[in-house]
Amino acid sequence: LSKIEIKLSDIPEGKNMTFKWRGKPLFVRHRTEKEIATEAAVSLSELRDPEHDKDRAANPKWMIVLGVCTHLGCVPIANAGDFGGYYCPCHGSHYDASGRIRRGPAPLNLEVPYYEFPDDDTVIVG
Ligand code: FES
Repeated sequence: LSKIEIKLSDIPEGKNMTFKWRGKPLFVRHRTEKEIATEAAVSLSELRDPEHDKDRAANPKWMIVLGVCTHLGCVPIANAGDFGGYYCPCHGSHYDASGRIRRGPAPLNLEVPYYEFPDDDTVIVG
């Protein structure tokens, strides 16, 4: 299937759920107010792959990324690592709650796929 439809009310605040999309893990994270504020405050000069959080999340409550480490493709662990986002155990890459690379060997942020919100409770990815 090239598109996946996800019901957002199934994902509690603070949780990350993993779906399978186009053969890859897809992470959908319902961010807390604290995570949203923390990521919005990060300055681009701190980032290896500089991207504003607002350019990665059309709705700041929802962080939607591919669960594929940009180093060598392992699946990162959610809610882990030194930046409270994702941690890749293969070689120790730490991502923040915007999926941006913060420490370790990965060169790039986790990829944000194309998606849209047809209504308040639904996201369609792809
Ligand atoms: Fe993730 Fe190497 S594959 S750190």
